[in-house]
Amino acid sequence: MTQDELKRAVALTAYEYVETLLEDDTIIGVGTGSTTNFFIAELGKIKHRIGGTVASSDESARRLKELGIPVYDLNSAGPVAVYVDGADETNKHLQLIKGGGAALTREKIIAAVATEFVCIADESKMVGVLGKFPLPIEVIPMARSHVARQLVLLGGDPVYREGCITDNGNHILDLYNLEILDPRSLEQQINQITGVVCNGLFAIRGADRLILGTNSGVKTYLP
Ligand code: A5P
Repeated sequence: MTQDELKRAVALTAYEYVETLLEDDTIIGVGTGSTTNFFIAELGKIKHRIGGTVASSDESARRLKELGIPVYDLNSAGPVAVYVDGADETNKHLQLIKGGGAALTREKIIAAVATEFVCIADESKMVGVLGKFPLPIEVIPMARSHVARQLVLLGGDPVYREGCITDNGNHILDLYNLEILDPRSLEQQINQITGVVCNGLFAIRGADRLILGTNSGVKTYLP
């Protein structure tokens, strides 16, 4: 199967799972990225049976609205029953690296609010140790150089993602060459650096369910 076929397959499995959770006015959290875009297309089928959505990026909100699916501000939405999103890397503990699409802060906020976080990915995202994919870190623009120097002290090589402004008006540093052996601890350490808005490690609140597309079928993992 091609990578897109695997992405479509996991999106369909996630859609079928979400359907089993539906109650009156269920709010669904929707992430960002090419895998999630397949899920958004599936959601169109049940748009009249859900309360609405909250989206982790302006781009996903635009796609949802295009399908006639209501998108709410998180502050005025009711409880978020489930959040469905992709990942750039996952380990077998369902700890993730996210933020390749620069939406990590809103993704982490919705993941924090949601009762359940369902990650959808193709098998290329499964790794033994996190860190081959450069870890995205959203920073306040004036703090970018300060944060970069602190990240060097942690042993990584930060690179400014040129031309990228997040939906929150901030910059992204991508942290290369770190073998992340203790993701929870690194997530906390990076959060302590003044000027960091958010980092792309989802370890303290990892996924609750991973739906992984493989060439031998779609597999579901729990932590
Ligand atoms: C967006 O900021 C990311 O966290 C995405 O979830 C991640 O990049 C996965 O994207 P794809 O589904 O396009 O691989």
